[in-house]
Amino acid sequence: MALRDYSIIPALVLLVLGIVGILLLVLPANEMEKPPQNMYGIVLDAGSSHTSMYIYKWLADKQNDTGIVTQHSECHVKGGGISSYAGIRGGAAESLEDCLNQAVKDVPKPRHHQTPLYLGATAGMRLLNEVNATESKQVLKEVEKKMRSYPFKFKEAAILSGQEEGAYGWVTVNYLLENFAKYGFVGRWLNPGRQTIGALDLGGASTQIAFETSEEVEDKDNVMELKLYGQTYRLYTQSFLCYGQDQFLRKLLALLIKTEGVKPQVSHPCYPQQFTTSVKLGPDVFDSPCTQSYKPANFDPQRSVRVVGTGDYRSCLDNVQKLFSFENCSYSKCSFNGVFQPNVKGSFMAFSAFFFTHSYINSLSNISITSPSRLKEAIQLICNMTISEMTATFKQKEKYMKNVCAISNFVQVLLLQGYGFDNHSLPSISFEKKAGGASVGWALGFMLSLSSIVPAERLGLMKALPPGPWAGILFLFITLLLIALGYLLMIYRSRKTKEGMV
Ligand SMILES: *[C@@H]1O[C@H](CO)[C@@H](O)[C@H](O)[C@H]1NC(C)=O
Ligand SMILES: *[C@@H]1O[C@H](CO)[C@@H](O)[C@H](O)[C@H]1NC(C)=O
Ligand SMILES: *[C@@H]1O[C@H](CO)[C@@H](O)[C@H](O)[C@H]1NC(C)=O
Repeated sequence: MALRDYSIIPALVLLVLGIVGILLLVLPANEMEKPPQNMYGIVLDAGSSHTSMYIYKWLADKQNDTGIVTQHSECHVKGGGISSYAGIRGGAAESLEDCLNQAVKDVPKPRHHQTPLYLGATAGMRLLNEVNATESKQVLKEVEKKMRSYPFKFKEAAILSGQEEGAYGWVTVNYLLENFAKYGFVGRWLNPGRQTIGALDLGGASTQIAFETSEEVEDKDNVMELKLYGQTYRLYTQSFLCYGQDQFLRKLLALLIKTEGVKPQVSHPCYPQQFTTSVKLGPDVFDSPCTQSYKPANFDPQRSVRVVGTGDYRSCLDNVQKLFSFENCSYSKCSFNGVFQPNVKGSFMAFSAFFFTHSYINSLSNISITSPSRLKEAIQLICNMTISEMTATFKQKEKYMKNVCAISNFVQVLLLQGYGFDNHSLPSISFEKKAGGASVGWALGFMLSLSSIVPAERLGLMKALPPGPWAGILFLFITLLLIALGYLLMIYRSRKTKEGMV
């Protein structure tokens, strides 16, 4: 009896070895460690129309090798963008208080002093900087002072260049989609070797396009090389100032007023039929560097003009097209306004106002945008709707709905005639607001690029176990397990037979 028991031992050893081997391979390493503490980072996205604050987190003991950064929380600052407080002492800084106070609660106290705090300002501040550099410096200085008064690790408050804004959006999109590196088996980073996808961002005062290209970029200002996880990415990135949705709407009004002359009433082909509103020539139309070229010789900035909608798709589209210039390209090819652009390639993600415009078009027309001709069909339908039809279909305020026809046509011209999306490439754009639980925008990419969370160098671990050999080793352990089980079964059977004989 005792002798027979010993014969089980090798089989049991094999069995345990097999199970342990498989577990080690399959379970992510971090599940076996004690739960690590989080690290945090805060980014204030100071846009032209409003400021948003994003708090990100990642695992504390992994910051150098495996920083999977996720969004912890967000906060939307009440009121306008920081540039709207130009000339109002302390206004911009004060506007950020509510969100910064929330950050104090959202980030655990022991982490406060280690938490980097950034503010990046975009096109609204770029415009203010053009108009009055003294005032933009003043706003940034006040905002920085406010940020420094909080217990976080203040890093910077700066105006991003358009190129940077585009590139950081691209980093965000591809990071969230795990196109650079994937946190794979055994808690190891793997390079998935996937194609990156392009980023399309539409803000209030500017719009950005960024994508990886192998074509020659004829204007060196549009190239950006990024080194992430040991791989070099060559990006085409371009930002069009004054082509954000708010500034575009201003330019459209300015063009109409210039064409029709300064009269008590002007007709607007993009507003729904019979919709009327009134605008003040200075604050609502011409007080912006974007509308200077349409400015009438002399006018009273305080004068109000009645704007009456005519809901005319064709005329709306014609006027929108006039805000783009498709001539005078000094390169082999251009998107518009003489700006070089290689052919769009691969898939794209369109976010911020692109996302909202797309969802307006979809819900109002009930047409899904699968081709340029479907997009035109949908917009035509929307431009023919009355304001009450619109607000009844899409429960939104008139102040948003009145602009849907104009902005849809703007997006149409920008994507099709400007960037050159066609039958083949338009369906490869996905319109998103969030990905992987995080808001899509430049903020995450900005923090990742400015910190060491995403290393430029290739990670040692990444090379350790590519999927092929990993599968091989897993197969070996499974074979081992099966052999052990077979062995045990044989012993059990032979024992039964012997017991039966006794
Ligand atoms: C992360 O890497 C940097 C430089 O590569 C090093 O200075 C730092 O100490 C590292 N931090 C941790 C937590 O390992
Ligand atoms: C810029 O703003 C400052 C402060 O508000 C003002 O004193 C100055 O005259 C402005 N400069 C211009 C060129 O408008
Ligand atoms: C795109 O598709 C439309 C309709 O399907 C067709 O009429 C048009 O010729 C196509 N354009 C190109 C450039 O292939």
